[in-house]
Amino acid sequence: MALNLRGRSFLKLLDFTPEEIRYLLDLSKEFKKMKLSGTPHRYLEGKNIVLLFEKTSTRTRCSFEVAGMDLGCGVTYLDPGSSQMGKKESIEDTARVLGRMYDGIEYRGFSQQIVEEIAEKSGVPVWNGLTDDFHPTQMLADVLTIEENFPTGLNHQKFVFMGDARNNVANSLMVVSAKLGLHFVGCCPKDLKPKAELIETCKELAAQSGGSINFTENPNEAAKDADVIYTDIWVSMGEPDDIWEKRIKELEPYRVTKELMAKANKEAIFMHCLPSFHDTQTAVGADIAKKFGVTEMEVEDAVFESDQSRVFQEAENRMHTIKAVIYATLA
Ligand code: CP
Ligand code: NVA
Repeated sequence: MALNLRGRSFLKLLDFTPEEIRYLLDLSKEFKKMKLSGTPHRYLEGKNIVLLFEKTSTRTRCSFEVAGMDLGCGVTYLDPGSSQMGKKESIEDTARVLGRMYDGIEYRGFSQQIVEEIAEKSGVPVWNGLTDDFHPTQMLADVLTIEENFPTGLNHQKFVFMGDARNNVANSLMVVSAKLGLHFVGCCPKDLKPKAELIETCKELAAQSGGSINFTENPNEAAKDADVIYTDIWVSMGEPDDIWEKRIKELEPYRVTKELMAKANKEAIFMHCLPSFHDTQTAVGADIAKKFGVTEMEVEDAVFESDQSRVFQEAENRMHTIKAVIYATLA
């Protein structure tokens, strides 16, 4: 029987079965083909969606806008600070208002509880565009990118996450690995591991999918035989600026270097959700270089720019996969 996700919210991958994730990936591939061949797919004409951002964004915002417009939807963007939400109007009231005007709501913000509450009160599908805990739409793009880069497709690859392994992206990567049978290795200092409860849940899921979940503090051990090495920035949105010094000290040994990539499989790829501090061409990157003398943070520029890097393919796939989520839940 064909899967039906109509009316569902997309809040975290723990809510979806491996078959449902597979369905969204297959749909993403269809949409990618249509986009690349110029085949119109305005299947959602007459629908309207709203994008609520309480944190900044390039990829997620643009992916939702382009995906929504390609599907024929009306799209409204509310930037951080330009809606009443949280300041003059409760989340509950905002959700009830938006649910009466729009067919779907994207939300990027702080606690996971907020996006869950918007879904509960609005009565329309809500899509999580990143919270402090999870970034589920990113994962669909990441898994699609892995599929596209290995002739075997998704096939129990060894997937290594280096760095702040308790952030939103790392949490979600661990969940998707557990659901789809990847061998996930979180490589990080002890105090940057995900919550014990989430690790336990993922270990149980991995036991069913033929994957595994492991942690190590040793980058060389993690990189050995890796198929994918992934990293993210060391300080996430919403964290205080004064944490940079501590993080740099803790995470410098976990920078993805050429030397580390050489320990991985010959065909290994490098991935990053972006944005990335791989040089000093950003205000933050320049400031960190001035304060701490660090010119490349989570990844060396040579790796970011290397033939093994798939970061821009991954970024493009955000749009195709987000289109699949909008379509599957609204059509
Ligand atoms: N990867 C990602 O979510 O990027 P943005 O913050 O630019 O949306
Ligand atoms: N962990 C990062 C991801 C950005 C896409 C953050 O939350 O800032």
